[in-house]
Amino acid sequence: MSQTTERTFAIIKPDAVAAGCTGRILARIEQEGFRIRAMRQTHLSKREAEGFYAVHRERPFFDSLTDFMSSGPCVVLALEAPDAIRKWRDLMGATDPARAAEGTLRKEFGSSIERNATHGSDAPETAAFELAYFFRGMEL
Ligand code: CMP
Repeated sequence: MSQTTERTFAIIKPDAVAAGCTGRILARIEQEGFRIRAMRQTHLSKREAEGFYAVHRERPFFDSLTDFMSSGPCVVLALEAPDAIRKWRDLMGATDPARAAEGTLRKEFGSSIERNATHGSDAPETAAFELAYFFRGMEL
């Protein structure tokens, strides 16, 4: 891994998978220059979704968010690129699809602030936690 190469954690959320948008989102990921280091489709239990989003436990949307995230299969990914964390957040766009810029994934595939198609780590520490939550070291 070169000095500037970084890894981030991404999810194609249950809304986008159910809508049949997985392939188009994966194509964008590759077109934008990310290397997919690991990828798996999984159906989170409520408890697994709660563990993943534990930092949001006190938020009013926590119960609804974890219901949604455990409502159907999602695709979890380890992405690698120079400046991957920022680059992936830029490609996703704003959390609320209504506020996301044209050309971003959430603008194109998201339908609400909760059902917003994709997730991405927001900092190196969260990327480390989130990658380890889903992938064993030997998979990366
Ligand atoms: P994500 O990037 O996965 O990080 C936390 C998630 O919580 C976020 O995307 C949204 O899906 C959800 N979220 C954030 N803010 C709100 C909100 N105000 N109401 C409902 N869901 C939210």
